[in-house]
Amino acid sequence: MQFKDKVVLVTGSTRGIGKAVAEAFAGQGATVIIIGRSQEQAAQVAQEIVQKGGQAQGYGCDVTKLEQVQETVNKLLDKHKCVDILVNNAGITRDNLFFRIDDNDWDEVLKVNLKGTFNVTKVVARPMLKAKSGKIISIASVIGITGNAGQSNYAASKAGIIGFSKSAARELASRGITVNVVAPGYIRTDMTDKLSEAVQAKVLERIPLQRFGQASDVAEVCLFLASKAADYITGQTIVVDGGLAI
Ligand code: NAI
Repeated sequence: MQFKDKVVLVTGSTRGIGKAVAEAFAGQGATVIIIGRSQEQAAQVAQEIVQKGGQAQGYGCDVTKLEQVQETVNKLLDKHKCVDILVNNAGITRDNLFFRIDDNDWDEVLKVNLKGTFNVTKVVARPMLKAKSGKIISIASVIGITGNAGQSNYAASKAGIIGFSKSAARELASRGITVNVVAPGYIRTDMTDKLSEAVQAKVLERIPLQRFGQASDVAEVCLFLASKAADYITGQTIVVDGGLAI
């Protein structure tokens, strides 16, 4: 129960990697705050965690809307002293070759993945600064490091998260706050299940560990980065990809 008495906010935690991360922290005694665009789904996931004996609350909040993020965190701070750990996980894809990406699909991906990360970090860092402690973890992607044909908007947003996090790590370090990134490879979730079987088979061929990742593979690394064992690590990106990007 290494996260007993800790409050952990996970964005986009109504399914997939975010949900696995929230469940992993709840399993270690944390109070988890489930954030999703739908209040109903967020409440549902929180209820599932509570039914399994964990502590959780769900809030509907769109990370692209700074006022909504601020309102949500204000509500949280009425109940809890601080947010100890933030996991920026909400993310979307709108894949296409770059010269076919329309303005909307470019803007939307950058807005959710990068601006969303900025918005939530900005709001949550304030109480962390007061508390002089905190762990911020953002989920980027190996695509933000290697690039990928058909994902230039997504790659730009994820590379942006890495650059943003290094800068925030420098700004927040003197106040006891660490900022790190997890860059997953191919993890089985709704996001990747929509790729064709042919594309999935091609990716699998390139993974040295010969399997797709599970959401729990990413969750385990988040637990580590949020733990005392990682107190001296900041500004880093940990790749969790079965060797895909070696
Ligand atoms: P998913 O599509 O299953 O889940 C994404 C979550 O983000 C959902 O709960 C969705 O409601 C939420 N979300 C989307 N827009 C939002 C907004 N504006 N405000 C609040 N919540 C919002 O995706 P998955 O696969 O679980 O991915 C989670 C993160 O991991 C994303 O950032 C994704 O880019 C990243 N990632 C996933 C990989 C994979 O192979 N599945 C690989 C590398 C990175």
